[in-house]
Amino acid sequence: MEEELIGIKNAALSFILEAESLESIEETKLQFLGKNGRLTIAIKDIKKVPEDKRAAVGMLANEVKETIERAIESKKQNLKEKSLSHVVKKIDVTNPGKAAPIGHLHLITQAIEEITDIFKSIGFTRVKYPEVEWDWFSFTALNFPQNHPARDDWETFFIDERQSDKFGPMLLTPHTSSGQIREMLSNKPPIKMLNIAKTYRRQADVGHTPMFHQFETLAVSENLSIGHLKGTLEYFVRSFFGPNIKTRIRPYHFEFTEPSFEVDITCTVCLGKGCKLCKEGWLEMGGAGMVHPNVLKNGGIDPQKYRGFASGWGVERVLLMRENLNIDDLRLVYSSKLEFLEQF
Ligand code: PHE
Repeated sequence: MEEELIGIKNAALSFILEAESLESIEETKLQFLGKNGRLTIAIKDIKKVPEDKRAAVGMLANEVKETIERAIESKKQNLKEKSLSHVVKKIDVTNPGKAAPIGHLHLITQAIEEITDIFKSIGFTRVKYPEVEWDWFSFTALNFPQNHPARDDWETFFIDERQSDKFGPMLLTPHTSSGQIREMLSNKPPIKMLNIAKTYRRQADVGHTPMFHQFETLAVSENLSIGHLKGTLEYFVRSFFGPNIKTRIRPYHFEFTEPSFEVDITCTVCLGKGCKLCKEGWLEMGGAGMVHPNVLKNGGIDPQKYRGFASGWGVERVLLMRENLNIDDLRLVYSSKLEFLEQF
């Protein structure tokens, strides 16, 4: 009986091996596993086997059955794939292909490129400085006294692992103004710098993401005045927002500029008439001022001979303002949600 079963198995496997079509596989299946198939009949005979051997023979019969079934299934799969590859060969290669979806730059990257082009057209050079920086460049050299409460306004992420004897703790740049010091220490005037970089602050809510971008200008030369600062910012605002948009400067305070200003622009919604968004026709854009003499000194520049102006604004802020995007949650910009990003 055992020999008979093994014989059936071998016969079935060689048929399966040679089968070249799904029909012949079906035929083989019927021949061995069908109602009157060779294996089916053999299994019926198991009851004639002496009782002490019956269980072992039964197990063998089961194994044979499973082996044949598995071989049939995998051969079928095999034949199906082959017949498909045959179809592929027949495809008309002159048909137009499927177009792959094409992505585009992130909206903030687009804005950064635009801002760069505007300042480039009036002689500013885009630079890149560390975004993991020392305290000295971000605060101390910018005229913040040690332990002064004004430092808290920048909600800085400090990196506890590193501390420099000379430059203090390590941090993630909370503003791009550290670039002013880096720029002055590595270049002689005249300087016209545009520093666009990632900035980090401990803030996360509908209006803030812990990582955002700023663009910082710094100009240093012999005869710079507030007029040059205002003219430069006005040129940017007109290019970016449109010819009807004006700027105004209001006195403010920063440690690193004197005098310091907040810059407002004509409200882009009501064009200065006054509306719900702006109240009196102006929208707040960001900080600016004439570089403080101590800051020039810390940058290795003689404040008796040179003057500078600087400004630092948020990329996300200017972009959302121009597009009049009523985004009720700024975090959407960095959420990687395609439904949102594909619109830009
Ligand atoms: N660094 C300031 C801020 O983050 C902005 C600023 C830059 C102000 C340059 C004056 C001059 O708020």
